[in-house]
Amino acid sequence: MSDGTTTTGALVAPDRLRPHAEEAYADELVALAAVDDRPRPPRWRLSPRAVVTYLVGGTLRDGTEISAKYIGSRRLMEVAVATLATDRALLLLGVPGTAKSWVSEHLAAAVSGRSTLLIQGTSGTPEEAIRYGWNYARLLAEGPTPAALVPSPVMTAMETGGIARIEELTRIPSDVQDALITVLSEKTLPVPELGQEVQAVKGFNVIATANDRDRGVNDLSSALRRRFNTVVLPLPADVEDEIRIVTTRVAELAGSLELPEPPSAEEEIRRVVTVFRELRAGVTADGRTAVKSPTATLSAAEAISVITSGLALATHFGDGTLTAGDVAAGLVGAVVKDPVSDRVAWIEYLEVVVRNRPGWAEFYSACREVT
Ligand SMILES: Nc1ncnc2c1ncn2[C@@H]1O[C@H](COP(=O)(O)OP(=O)(O)OP(=O)(O)O)[C@@H](O)[C@H]1O
Ligand SMILES: [Mg+2]
Repeated sequence: MSDGTTTTGALVAPDRLRPHAEEAYADELVALAAVDDRPRPPRWRLSPRAVVTYLVGGTLRDGTEISAKYIGSRRLMEVAVATLATDRALLLLGVPGTAKSWVSEHLAAAVSGRSTLLIQGTSGTPEEAIRYGWNYARLLAEGPTPAALVPSPVMTAMETGGIARIEELTRIPSDVQDALITVLSEKTLPVPELGQEVQAVKGFNVIATANDRDRGVNDLSSALRRRFNTVVLPLPADVEDEIRIVTTRVAELAGSLELPEPPSAEEEIRRVVTVFRELRAGVTADGRTAVKSPTATLSAAEAISVITSGLALATHFGDGTLTAGDVAAGLVGAVVKDPVSDRVAWIEYLEVVVRNRPGWAEFYSACREVT
């Protein structure tokens, strides 16, 4: 918030690299709430329709501009938001870099004003991370008391009627995932040590994200899957959408990293997005030439980092104008993850496609230099 405190009252440094969504967009959230006259589900900060406007952007009745956080299908966001208003949890599924974590953070911020009740799923996530743990010093001194209990983000969300976020759900071992079943179906979390239970308050729900590529790692049990509505986030359908995603995010990132955004970035963004889309699809944009796809995921997220690194090079080592040479190094690094097979695919793409493309000569030689 602008007075230097978070929604939970903690003091925050003014110079943080990345404020939480509810702080970064506090003004938009206030403006939305002010004109929002539709019914709100219990403990929601906004009505479902206002949450969707927060996500996809728009102009409010009073003229306030709401920026688009998610660029893509409005309908998908409506389904996601509507799910949160039911007793089913929301699972955002998709390949890496399709904005699953990003959408999850913004949903939690807009619905419950708090995106930080977060569990990062890994193969080492213990059950305590989902249920509760203990402050061992107090546990030894006092025995199991409510004061010695350390609630998990899920437990806090249940007590406060908020949204808990679980990142990379399918990386969590199956037996630990199962701790969620009681929470999601009975809406209660027993604490046998205290002879108590925590019952979820209205407004509580869970948003989980999972990666397509991890499918099979620790697949969701069907019992757990039934407790979720799944929304699949796709890769951007057309090239203009993808360019818009990269342009918007690069401008925001450049702002927070205090990199000036050179006006010429547009041309390089279009080029990087084109290269990534062609390599992903295995065919050139005109549909005429087949190309080999590398193993790397080449999503909008990678394009954003290639352009941002290019901007840092241009700012600190060039004349501030983003050139083909500034993006080439980062681009080759993003494409060639496997030094053998990816390199073969990349060189073939360079020679067959890039070399002869009008206006791409400088880019071709910059890439050759770093390949
Ligand atoms: N459709 C989109 N609209 C807006 N931003 C997008 C879109 N697709 C990707 N992005 C941007 O891509 C970046 C990466 O997204 P994010 O980290 O949420 O991906 P993810 O799906 O969680 O990936 P992973 O599976 O690797 O965790 C974010 O900065 C986000 O803004
Ligand atoms: Mg993610």
